[in-house]
Amino acid sequence: MRDLGSSAVRAAAVLAAMVVMSSCKLSVAEPAPTGQDFAEIERGRYLTAAADCTACHTDPADSRPFAGGRPIQTPFGTVLAANITPDDETGIGSWTLEQFDAAVRRGRRPDGKHLYPAMPYPYYTKMSRADVGAIRAYLLTLAPVHKKVDSNQLPFPFNIRWEMRLWDALYFKAEPFQADPSKPEAWNRGAYLVQGPGHCAACHTPKTWLGGDHKDQALQGYSLQGWFAPNITNDPRRGVGSWSAADLVAYLKTGHNRFAGASGPMAEEVVHSSSRMTDSDLSAIATYLESKPDGSAAAGKPLPATNAEMTSGAAIYQDLCSACHRQDGSGVPYLIPDLSHSAAVQSRETTSLLHVVLEGAQTAATADEPTAPAMPAFGWQLDDAQIAAVTTYLRNSWGHAAPATTAGDVRKAREGLQSAAAHTTP
Ligand code: HEC
Ligand code: HEC
Ligand code: HEC
Repeated sequence: MRDLGSSAVRAAAVLAAMVVMSSCKLSVAEPAPTGQDFAEIERGRYLTAAADCTACHTDPADSRPFAGGRPIQTPFGTVLAANITPDDETGIGSWTLEQFDAAVRRGRRPDGKHLYPAMPYPYYTKMSRADVGAIRAYLLTLAPVHKKVDSNQLPFPFNIRWEMRLWDALYFKAEPFQADPSKPEAWNRGAYLVQGPGHCAACHTPKTWLGGDHKDQALQGYSLQGWFAPNITNDPRRGVGSWSAADLVAYLKTGHNRFAGASGPMAEEVVHSSSRMTDSDLSAIATYLESKPDGSAAAGKPLPATNAEMTSGAAIYQDLCSACHRQDGSGVPYLIPDLSHSAAVQSRETTSLLHVVLEGAQTAATADEPTAPAMPAFGWQLDDAQIAAVTTYLRNSWGHAAPATTAGDVRKAREGLQSAAAHTTP
């Protein structure tokens, strides 16, 4: 009986809503779209892709775009991304521009509560209000999806939202992007895209144990979700200093270039976001990244070729790797990454290196380059000591000089990947 009653109530509510909606259509509040609205919506569509809102707000297990529910891992535990379709009750349909802007740029919900920084508002705060307004205009054109998402899956004490006030006090500053008038326009556009909508630092900047950015090490590399997002400053060894602007643009546009291929979270970023950006915006990003000098220390000395781990690593490389990556590590442009220039190989942290060798990898496939070559998995074939040897060899050949990998590192990486496989990751 209660069911019958509630469905009757619901039917009445739906009817009432339909009446309201149809009367809205006729009222002056919603005039027919003009050319200007159309341009605003298209600008919003572009910015929504540049800001990669879909990465978190579309759950691969529920194909309805922006309906939320995707689990996002944070240092505190898992948070589910919200429903941001224009549904009045469970989405952002009834939010004013003011409320939407406060959520995106300040991490505040209409009820005054703080969002978790799993939502990248600490970066989106650099966006202009006009750009956030355009994103909202685009989202409002989508089909509303009625889906209640209970975002907060965190364990005590992190499930208490007001604690995020502390986090905000420590790490968050609401400050819109300030252009530097002494720099060219392209540099400023690149800085805006990288720091604001692109939120590149969310993955590429080292973090404190509470997940705040180490601002003095901007874009110098960070491990997340079983991958290492490498240093993307102009450092020639650990960063992308040996890449030309055209190499950077090709990587962001297609997911690979003559040196490297994007896997893991970066493959997703390329597919949903950077491959959809204009060439002029991508070259602005390259201009900005190339201006970021790296402060880290000069390279050390490589291990000698006579070192026992080096000789066994060289033998494994010869047998299992050189057919594809070539004897000198140079690979095949656009197909097989050049290990002699790879940041993943020389990085401070071996997360991505071990991930790729243990589990293999598939680079991004994009409209421009639909077939992506794959790296086979070796985790089943080689034991911990053998993988430590071959990766140590990579890290100390062809001019590289990086600390050796140990069998213990490999065991930890295997365990980490097993527990990551038990979760869904963005
Ligand atoms: C890295 C993942 C991620 C990205 C990218 C992301 N979001 Fe979110 N967003 C979240 C998570 C997680 C929440 C829920 C946080 C919480 O409950 O505290 C959220 C919450 C929100 C909310 C608040 C909704 C509510 O009901 O409380 C809005 C609005 C929002 N996001 C809009 C956007 C827009 C617009 C973009 C792109 C410009 C975007 N998000 C990009 C993860 C993300
Ligand atoms: C969701 C996390 C994430 C975001 C956001 C992200 N990246 Fe990445 N990025 C990664 C990871 C992980 C890798 C390593 C991929 C691999 O090893 O194949 C990577 C690799 C790269 C590389 C290749 C570096 C090299 O030496 O191989 C470049 C360049 C890059 N990212 C640029 C960017 C830029 C520019 C942005 C912002 C527009 C960005 N990334 C946003 C995670 C991310
Ligand atoms: C069948 C050809 C093939 C063989 C054999 C092969 N690789 Fe790869 N490797 C690839 C391809 C293709 C990629 C790019 C995939 C990606 O980045 O998603 C790759 C990527 C890599 C990367 C990541 C480089 C970067 O900059 O992101 C490393 C490291 C690597 N391989 C090491 C090895 C080692 C060590 C072996 C031998 C144990 C090996 N590969 C054998 C094809 C191969």
